[in-house]
Parts: sequence; C-alpha cells; structure tokens
Amino acid sequence: MNTRNTRIRRTGIALAASAAALSLSACGVVDGIGGGGSSASPKKGNDITVGLLLPEKENSRYEKFDYPIIKQQVAELTHKKGKVDYVNAEQDADKQSSQLQQMIADKVDVILLDAVDAKSIAKDVQKAKDAGIPVIAYDRLAQGPIDAYISFDNELVGQVQGRAILEALGSDAESRKIVMMNGSVTDPNAAQFKEGALSELKGKVNIAESYDTKDWKPENAKANMEQAISAIGLDKIAAVYSANDGMAGAVIDALKTAGVSKVPPVTGQDAELDAVQRVVAGDQYMSVYKSYPQEASAAAEMAVAKVQGRGIEFDALTRDKTDSPTNKDIPSQMVPVVALTKDNIADTVVDDGIYTVKQICTAKYKSACASITGLK
Ligand code: GAL
Repeated sequence: MNTRNTRIRRTGIALAASAAALSLSACGVVDGIGGGGSSASPKKGNDITVGLLLPEKENSRYEKFDYPIIKQQVAELTHKKGKVDYVNAEQDADKQSSQLQQMIADKVDVILLDAVDAKSIAKDVQKAKDAGIPVIAYDRLAQGPIDAYISFDNELVGQVQGRAILEALGSDAESRKIVMMNGSVTDPNAAQFKEGALSELKGKVNIAESYDTKDWKPENAKANMEQAISAIGLDKIAAVYSANDGMAGAVIDALKTAGVSKVPPVTGQDAELDAVQRVVAGDQYMSVYKSYPQEASAAAEMAVAKVQGRGIEFDALTRDKTDSPTNKDIPSQMVPVVALTKDNIADTVVDDGIYTVKQICTAKYKSACASITGLK
C-alpha cells in the first residue's frame, strides 16, 4: 500500500462534529436535507439492514466491542427496527470478498467494511457501488469507491508508540538497539502506525531489526522475535516497538523464554485486557487506548444517516477528508487516541466501562494494583 498517497486533512474536530450531529438529529429537523457524499441511495425509514464485515477474531476488540456496540447503536437509532448483518473474515481476504458479494446479493442497505486486504477488496467495493449500496470503510481504509471512512488517527498511534520508546530509553537513546515488530502489510493502518513511529524514532535510535508480521499473528511475531534475539543478542535489546498488544504478548514471551532478567520496554496497542494486566505488572511498558465505543457509535450513526438520506447529519459526522491510493477527498472522521500507561488505566479503560477494576485486578495482579491510583 502506498501510504504517501494516503493523506488526512482535518477540517473539523471529530468529537465536536459527532456531538453536533447528534443534537441536530435529536431535533428531528435534518431528514432528507443536504448533500451527503457521492452515492445517492434511496431514502429509507427505520427498517434497514446494515452489513458489517470485520476482519478477524484473534484481537478481542472486534467481537467484544465493535460488533455489539454497532448492533446496539443501530437498534437505538432505528427504534429497534434496523438490524446488523454481521460476518467475520477470520483474516482471510478471499473469504471477505465472498462475504461482501453475499451482502450485495442479499441487498443490504449499507455496508460497513473493515478490510483484511485493503487493496484486493476494491473490486468488490466497486460491485457494491454498481449495485447502489453505499460502503463506509470502517477502521481500515479500503480502496475503491467508498462513500466515507471512519478510523482512529493511525499515524498518531504510531507517534505515541514511538515517543514512548524514546521516553523509556532516556538520554542515551541513540546508542541503543531496538527491534520493530510491525503489523500486516495488507492492513493500511499498519503502514501508518509504522510511518508514525518512524517519524519519532528515525535517527534517534538504532533500529537493529524490523519485521512486518504476517496477518498480525502473535505466533509469527514470536518467531521473528526469536530471530531478533539471536541476531542482536538478548542483552543488547534496549526496547521493542510492537504495533499491537497481541504481538507485544508474544514478544515478551520470547524474551522471557530466552531468559531475560528484566523485560525491556515493549509497546502495544488496543488496550486488550491481558495487555492492561501486563502494564499493571510492569511487563509491558504501554499500550494505546482507542475508544471503541466512540468509533463504533459514530460508524453506526454514519451508516444510518447515509441510508436515511440525512445529508447534514452525515456531513457533520465526516468533516475530515482522506485520500486513498484510488480515491480522493473521502469524507472522514478521525477519532483521537491516548497512550495507556499505569498512570491513566483508571481514567481510560475503567472510566469508559471497557473493563472493571475487578476484571483487571485479579488475584495475580492484586498487589501490583494496590500501588496504582484508581485501581486500589
Ligand atoms: C488494526 C486495528 C487495530 C488492531 C490491528 C490488529 O487495523 O486498527 O485496532 O485491530 O488492526 O491487531
């Protein structure tokens, strides 16, 4: 994927846009007014079907948060008349292609697509467009004629991770060797995470080994980490940039199995429960918390607004503009992210209702939790 072609321009604050849209729709004054993107879909009532295609199950976010939140939000926005037709591709791009074609055959009203392979799915996006079904790229920027895109600020995710590594290494960062464990090459977000991280790290640390991890799979990250350990030497690895939590777990495993005396700083992303627990225990340096409720709710609002022809609401939800390698000026919303460390677990995942203190502070982590503000 050519990330140089992928630019995001901000023309508004995502959160403000979302709030404005909600209040407009609550007044009931916006039905049918306004432009609202390229494909003119018939205006429908509440009896709608949203097709939801998610990419994998390994990462817990998809089935634990994205799907249930979108389902609930669609129901709420349609007085319980609308439904979500959900499928998961389990990391198989061909399977996702068939799933999308099935959605077209089933004549769903709108599609939310989180692509396994952003490039190869473009031909199916075109088919949906030809059938008059709007496609909204969810979390990953699918290529082809999509109507809108919602994601987190993915370059910022990488920057936050990169900055954390520099902070952890302190003043003598330059002489230290680090390993980069990047995500899957078929996922455009992975390229943006990497680009963001490199913008912080380049020239400031010695990136001794760097890997793109097939399918984001922890087992592949583990094998790569074992290779890095033998190439660099266990004691010479000062930190590991890991693009997500699943891989961070595998990296830490490999380091421990190799006999490391103190785990070096390892980054992550997604605030998965076991990663939050590793942060509590001091095994993982940080994660990146992305508010799934915020992304998923806004995606549901966008989908319903699009189908119901609520142009002003749709425009208010998509004030940013993004270019993909195939399309320009895609109406977008970028949701902000925060670095998750010991200090803000209570203010982020706990406050947002993602996990309870009880879920995080199980018997194994009780004593570590006792010294962390908000988890005592
Ligand atoms: C990315 C997504 C992350 C994570 C990753 C796989 O595209 O933004 O949240 O799911 O894929 O772990």
